[in-house]
Amino acid sequence: MGSEASEGTLNPPDRPEDAEEALWVRPMTLEEAPLRIDYFLGASDDYLQLLGVDRAKLPTREAWLARYEDDLAKAPQERDTYSIVWLLGERIVGFSTADRIQPGQQAFLHLHVLDPGRRRQGLGSRFVRLSAEHYHEVLGVPRLYSQPKAFNVAPNRALQRAGFRYLWTKEFVPGPINFHQAVTRWVWEAR
Ligand SMILES: CC(C)(COP(=O)(O)OP(=O)(O)OC[C@H]1O[C@@H](n2cnc3c(N)ncnc32)[C@H](O)[C@@H]1OP(=O)(O)O)[C@@H](O)C(=O)NCCC(=O)NCCS
Repeated sequence: MGSEASEGTLNPPDRPEDAEEALWVRPMTLEEAPLRIDYFLGASDDYLQLLGVDRAKLPTREAWLARYEDDLAKAPQERDTYSIVWLLGERIVGFSTADRIQPGQQAFLHLHVLDPGRRRQGLGSRFVRLSAEHYHEVLGVPRLYSQPKAFNVAPNRALQRAGFRYLWTKEFVPGPINFHQAVTRWVWEAR
């Protein structure tokens, strides 16, 4: 990834010659929801362990899709989860989800680059920054928290690189699909 790539939120790149390299984010559509659902349901035990996710707590594909359908009918600020896709030109290379949305206050951000071959190249940290700005604009949340598993190095490093500030490390169950684990909390505040 060249550092010359243009960045933006919401709007696709307006210069066609830059389309291949532009980084941008937009809301995930219902048709794209299987991207996130199958990412978790199709993951290996080792990968779920890295993420801190308990397979037994994942909804079935049908139930998860139905949940998306219900949620997408609501305004972004009223949803249980609000997901966006990360794009390099026209190609989706990752996604982020905001949950525990409290308009005017805060939400929690999740981060995933889909293809392992695209990780650790500087993309994740740049997309996290774009995602935080997008959630700030669309959900009206001036503060974002993120709580990766403490021993999962990549998100911890990427959050710091994206401008999140480390707050603390504690052991608990951080979310409805997670098992008990050591969790770090990071915060981003809009300027
Ligand atoms: C987490 C994730 C989105 C980060 O995106 P990324 O594109 O890999 O991260 P970046 O390339 O922007 O790296 C940011 C920093 O993290 C470091 N880093 C990334 N992956 C790393 C790894 N596996 N081990 C050590 N350091 C790593 C980079 O060296 C960089 O460090 P720097 O700031 O010192 O330069 C991506 O790695 C991913 O999707 N991982 C699997 C899913 C996951 O764990 N999600 C988090 C669930 S809570």
